[in-house]
Amino acid sequence: MTGIIGAMKEEVASLTSHSQIDKKEKIAGLNFYSGRLAGSPVVIVQCGIGKVNAAAATQLLIDRFSVDRIVFTGLAGSGLSDIAIGDFVLADSLVQHDFDLTHFGREKGVVPGAGRFFETDREMNRILAEVISELAERDSEYGKLHRGIIASGDAFIAEAEKIREITEEFGVAAVEMEGAAVAQVCQMNSLPFAVLRTISDNADENAMADFQSVLDRASIEEYEILKKAVPMLEALS
Ligand code: ADE
Repeated sequence: MTGIIGAMKEEVASLTSHSQIDKKEKIAGLNFYSGRLAGSPVVIVQCGIGKVNAAAATQLLIDRFSVDRIVFTGLAGSGLSDIAIGDFVLADSLVQHDFDLTHFGREKGVVPGAGRFFETDREMNRILAEVISELAERDSEYGKLHRGIIASGDAFIAEAEKIREITEEFGVAAVEMEGAAVAQVCQMNSLPFAVLRTISDNADENAMADFQSVLDRASIEEYEILKKAVPMLEALS
């Protein structure tokens, strides 16, 4: 079974409304929707914003629902000028840009005992990339797919100077607020995972306005990707 996490209600809205939901459970204040997406078993959870929420939802999916893999879906701010609003970023690895033990001689982002960059699952990425390129073939306006590092932290970045700093420090393609927490918990549990983000803004001074305008459309596109990808992911196990 595939676990799907999104942070905001709008980010999971299309998924929950188009899946066949058999059961809804509230655990630790989070709503878990179990059912089928395109015939394949899924559990979908809206985790709320930030790394703590994402970590809790991930561990609950593993402990209570015995998921075989996790996909995180939602929006992100672009870290590079050639990654535009509406494009997709599939994480090769993730880092916590606000994890800072530099006073103890550690590189920024290093989590003692766990590492700095958390790698996503290659096979899952291959499937997600394949589905996006198929969908893009049919629509010349479709967002481009980028692969790279995604940085997560407990702050919405809306300052050109700050995103430049994060990009230079970690070489990131995009910033968001949950992915690296999912990544660390999945690594702790040896569970394969992927993080797919739609770019909603450039993490600069216009970020808030751009973010709001993309929110609903992105949810529909991500549902269309996952509808095709989940049965293929299920075939991996
Ligand atoms: N998610 C979408 N845009 C973001 C931004 N600019 N900063 C952090 N998380 C985001």
